[in-house]
Amino acid sequence: MPKHHTETYESRGHIRTRVKMRKGEAISLCRCWQSKKFPLCDGTHNTLDNDRGPAIIKVDCDLDFLDPGAD
Ligand code: FES
Repeated sequence: MPKHHTETYESRGHIRTRVKMRKGEAISLCRCWQSKKFPLCDGTHNTLDNDRGPAIIKVDCDLDFLDPGAD
């Protein structure tokens, strides 16, 4: 499991997730906001009445940080 931490920007209402990943690793980021392991997907979306699943990210090279919320 890649190392991760979250940062919350209260003033902008955004949650930014930074993930350190190595080549070949994959991670599933929750997009339904119901995961008990947020920001990671724990499969809870399968119990909800919508079609929103995780964002699955896999890298094919080493990255120091992956910042999906970067501007
Ligand atoms: S639990 Fe939220 S997308 Fe899977």
